[in-house]
Amino acid sequence: MFGKLLGYQKLENRILLQFEEKVCYIEIMEETVIRIFASLEEKEQISYGITELSRQQYCNACQQVSVQIEQREQGLVIKTGKLWVEVNDDFKVDIYNNQHEILCRDYRMERESFMQPEAGWQQAAQEGHTIQEKTGKHKIQVIKTMEGEEVFYGLGDKTGFLNKRGYEYEMWNSDIPDPHVDSFRALYKSIPFFITMRNSHFYGIFFDNPHKSVFDMGKESEKYYFFGAEQGNLDYYFMYGNTMADVLKSYMGLTGTHPLPQLWTLGYHQSRWSYETSQEVREIAKSFRENDIPCDCIHLDIDYMDGCRVFTYSPEGFPDMKELIQQLNQEGFQIVTIIDPGVKLEEGYPIYDQGLELDCFVKDKEGTNYTNWVWPGTVVYPDFSDEKVRSWWGENHRYLIELGVSGIWNDMNEPASFHGELPDDIQFSEEGQGADHRRIHNVYGHLMSQATYEAWKKYKKTRPFVITRACYAGTQRYATAWTGDNHSIWAHLQMAVPQLCNLGLSGMAFVGTDVGGFGSDCTPELLCRWVQTGCFSPLFRNHSCKGSRRQEPWAFNQETLDINRKYIKLRYRLLPYFYDLFWEHERNGLPVIRPLVLEFPEDRNTWEMNDQFMVGSHILVAPVVNQGQRMRLVYLPEGIWEDYWTGERHVGGTYIKREAPLEVCPMYIKAGTILPNYPEIAYTGEKKIKQLILEVYEGEGEYYHYQDNGKDFSYQEGVYNQYLFRLSENRKLQLDIIHQGYEEGYTTFLIRWKGREKQICFVQDTQIVLLDEIESEVL
Ligand code: GLC
Repeated sequence: MFGKLLGYQKLENRILLQFEEKVCYIEIMEETVIRIFASLEEKEQISYGITELSRQQYCNACQQVSVQIEQREQGLVIKTGKLWVEVNDDFKVDIYNNQHEILCRDYRMERESFMQPEAGWQQAAQEGHTIQEKTGKHKIQVIKTMEGEEVFYGLGDKTGFLNKRGYEYEMWNSDIPDPHVDSFRALYKSIPFFITMRNSHFYGIFFDNPHKSVFDMGKESEKYYFFGAEQGNLDYYFMYGNTMADVLKSYMGLTGTHPLPQLWTLGYHQSRWSYETSQEVREIAKSFRENDIPCDCIHLDIDYMDGCRVFTYSPEGFPDMKELIQQLNQEGFQIVTIIDPGVKLEEGYPIYDQGLELDCFVKDKEGTNYTNWVWPGTVVYPDFSDEKVRSWWGENHRYLIELGVSGIWNDMNEPASFHGELPDDIQFSEEGQGADHRRIHNVYGHLMSQATYEAWKKYKKTRPFVITRACYAGTQRYATAWTGDNHSIWAHLQMAVPQLCNLGLSGMAFVGTDVGGFGSDCTPELLCRWVQTGCFSPLFRNHSCKGSRRQEPWAFNQETLDINRKYIKLRYRLLPYFYDLFWEHERNGLPVIRPLVLEFPEDRNTWEMNDQFMVGSHILVAPVVNQGQRMRLVYLPEGIWEDYWTGERHVGGTYIKREAPLEVCPMYIKAGTILPNYPEIAYTGEKKIKQLILEVYEGEGEYYHYQDNGKDFSYQEGVYNQYLFRLSENRKLQLDIIHQGYEEGYTTFLIRWKGREKQICFVQDTQIVLLDEIESEVL
């Protein structure tokens, strides 16, 4: 395809490679990040994953990188301080570290199929079995040699287990209501990024191509893995790191992090399709307070609208919408409303009329507005790939802001369509340069989230809260996401752990599943176990489908209610810890919920750990995800771990047996942790938190704690406080404030140590607390 390598030329950070058939390039982004590029399209390709700003930042950083280029027998060798990149004929690229150890090499042989033609395979198809045909050759195809024990993580929301080796996936945002099982090739999100680990070498590849693409991580052959696409460019980034976290940080550097959310968004959310009247919403809110269950947010699903027309509300169900929201706000509940992209085709409906007038809808190839069918009936689709449409759409949110709505839930934005998928040739603007559905499909939800985020920021001025179902790489810049329509089945509780962990490794830090499961009928036991996992997921929302059994915390029996209360309260105690993790994420890209392998990659036991996870690096959770199970094995990696419930200490590096009656979700705190807690609250704004509780776990460690007003962007101007807590082996706790910009900081700290408490006043100088003294104090 490319032919012989004839020569090269260095232009700033790009090394142009003259092949017989084409000029390609390798771009040095920094010492450990390179871009491999060949243009196969005529038009300029916009990157949705990478912002101009991060490209600019990389461009500045790359000026510092010294690059050496040597023409050798084996090809052209490009050296940065950390990488050796050998380029050969046909644009074959082999990458080594600076010790010349292999990281990743292009595969030179022909692809070979694992599938041998078997006589009569159609018989299996007759019974209804899906026989997947061999993935054909793609116009763009990158095949990498499997060097040995590679394991693969990331790839977005794909079903199945944590390690993606041996499986094949497709990137094509898909709304499939059947229970999502391991054999699904695609779901709602397309995040073409993965991280590889082999022999303590870590690298990531981001294939920045929004078209339908395939990722075969060794299903076709054990000798190689590959990714490819039919259209777009050959355009991928290779990121090398000393740790998995380094690789992830580079990816986040390219695609951006999730901006710090408002504090209330980290509380508990209650949803159902749908709470249909004001009265019902008031009752739900009342039940939370009466049952002493903290809650910050109630979601209104499609039935709040007038016949599912976006930017309206139902005059029958919600005649007093504004008063309802006002009253609930006063009681500490935020209201989030769903907004789908499909606009009802109906003359006289202002949104449709306006959109028509401004020419905002996507077209078929004859230039007629394209229609399909979603909840409101026949709909047209806004063309979010056009700046003008994004700002028109955004402006419409003023209506909801005016009503007092606190956040927007963007659904059905794959885009979903009930009368068959949008045809390939549906026309989009793509900022005026023109593109068809094949190119925009995977970024449609991303662009819709961008429109919503930017409007919210502009008109409401608080940190936007946007939830989206469909994503592309980089959607974290605009939205939190949930994993779509799961079911109330144990398999989906099990899947929640690897799915959320892989989303975190794909850049999506603010994610959650529908707690209790969306479709099918929940059981009391399943809800108990789900709330135990769900209370640790960044987005904590119970949501369920019309026609399914109710699953609010009080829907079953006293025991289920008590267990819900216990874990929702635990979440509220841990809110400052979650908030700290989000602050950390915005700065370094690390996820909130993490697979063990991210923290302990050298420990083989963690590589395929599908039923345990870390929250940050201090809390290890080993939830029960099997029906009837009342005891489980817990793997504790190296170190000392304290049982959160009993205080028992364990030496890690081994499995332990833990009793897990229905009310217990096993969780362990790393020795040396200083865990910030809030006092008991019914919702986040209930009172000003003037006292921070510090739970101290014996050992050695340090902890950065962050505090601000939890609402707006003033933190970006320095209106925040940052504290550093240090614990030494000799049981000395040192408290410092290292940034002071937020005036309403804490007045006291409450130190919890071995079952005792001591309150100390906050002063600006270093404070030392001798924990032994707390222990010996007579109570
Ligand atoms: C989709 C969403 C679900 C929502 C329903 C009705 O199925 O995934 O969460 O409740 O639509 O809006």
